[in-house]
Amino acid sequence: MSFDLVIFGGTGDLAWRKLMPALFQAWRHGKLPAGGRILAVAREALDDDGYRQWLQQRFQDLAGPTRPGAADFKRFAALLHYLQVDLSLRAHYARLRRWLKAPQPGEGRNSAADSAVLYLATSPHLFPEICRQLGAVGLNGPEVRVVLEKPLGHDLQSARAINQAVGATFSEAQALRIDHYLGKSAVQNLTALRFGNALFEPLWRRESVASMEITLAESLGVGTRGDFYDRTGALRDMVQNHALQLLTMLAMEPPARHDANALRDEKLKVLQALKPFDAVSARRDVVRGQYRAGVCEGRAVPGYLDERNVPAGSRCETFVALRTEVRNWRWAGVPFYLRTGKRLAAGAACIVVNFRAVPHPIFPGPHRANRLLIKLQPEDGLELQLLAAKGSSGSEALAPVSLDLDFDKAFFEDRVGAYERLLLEALHGRLNLFVRSDEQEEAWRWVEPVLQAWREDDAAGLGPRPYAAGSWGPAAASALVARDGFHWSEEH
Ligand code: BG6
Repeated sequence: MSFDLVIFGGTGDLAWRKLMPALFQAWRHGKLPAGGRILAVAREALDDDGYRQWLQQRFQDLAGPTRPGAADFKRFAALLHYLQVDLSLRAHYARLRRWLKAPQPGEGRNSAADSAVLYLATSPHLFPEICRQLGAVGLNGPEVRVVLEKPLGHDLQSARAINQAVGATFSEAQALRIDHYLGKSAVQNLTALRFGNALFEPLWRRESVASMEITLAESLGVGTRGDFYDRTGALRDMVQNHALQLLTMLAMEPPARHDANALRDEKLKVLQALKPFDAVSARRDVVRGQYRAGVCEGRAVPGYLDERNVPAGSRCETFVALRTEVRNWRWAGVPFYLRTGKRLAAGAACIVVNFRAVPHPIFPGPHRANRLLIKLQPEDGLELQLLAAKGSSGSEALAPVSLDLDFDKAFFEDRVGAYERLLLEALHGRLNLFVRSDEQEEAWRWVEPVLQAWREDDAAGLGPRPYAAGSWGPAAASALVARDGFHWSEEH
């Protein structure tokens, strides 16, 4: 299968930090289909060699295994091409079309590729115009797929507008919406754990599960992205997409087939079953916070308001914790707690399944319950906490012990990064790991009452709750789960 992969925004941060290193890894692992070309398009005046040199310089800034050696880079760079494009000019799209339809001698083949993947790594406000222009020059045939990077919209209305504009040129099956969390190995393993093993599925329901926790904690601050972040906030940046996608994978019914629409139909049903927020619950069941100066991982760090490009007095949230429920037969009454934030005590992403305690304890207290930790990062693994008799006497309380599985060790040879996986899936036209427009719009619909409540609170002078950098967020987040008799994972 020959392919052309075109990266719009080819000189942008996403391209050199994530996409090109992922493509390099895929090439190094021998996973890129043969007969492929990678074309970066951007405004800068460069040619193929100029782009290759520019990228090699950028790669020097990368750390670890993603940084290629000179010899490897040279071989990989033979796949790379560059086209200067002004995204507002029809003639430039026509030039792109010619480039795609007519490979040159020395480019590894002499006919158009079997598939063309157009990755829009530009600002999303350009998506409608880019798609319109691509359609106008006929670059929307069945062999073409377009990949859309987040943030896709700012609210339901803007997300719909983007989807409609994209939909006017490309069919749903041609539009691949990226959520890079869906490319993480741990998320693949969540599906495997639930639907490839018969062990847990009978327990995966309200009768056995007391609560669910999804924590996506970052120790980093907003860095140089203050301007973007301040227009976005944690709810739009992490909850509407990554956290909700994880929730759908956690709560969905087993799909009848492992194919894109069967999976996405089930995920959509979870989003539709989420307990909606209203003006009361958007305040009672959601905690928003903003970090102040503190000590994070041993280093003194400034507060959010002192970060670069953050406007004075900003009320943007850098932390969200919330409680919701999935209103269906499987999950009725089981609280799902979601939490995410910047400058928290640790950079760690984890899902915790809190099982119910035994109905009639015969051992002395304290009485604990089993927990399953699905670790996304920094390590990728599963930890099942069991209760065992530690001492020799039967009069002691049971102690928690862990069955601990480290996927990085178990599958060392086959480790694949999130962007590498998603790019390969896009090249092969497999849609399982991409978000359908109806899922995305349903997720926006669900967060909207919270955004509305915050707008009203802002107007009334009620901003986010402060928390010290290096902590686990505002105390109100602990109170949110304590209300139901639970604790966040680090409080156990
Ligand atoms: C991105 C957000 O989507 O995800 C960032 O825009 C966030 O703010 C990042 O830092 C987290 O991704 P990961 O893979 O580092 O957990």
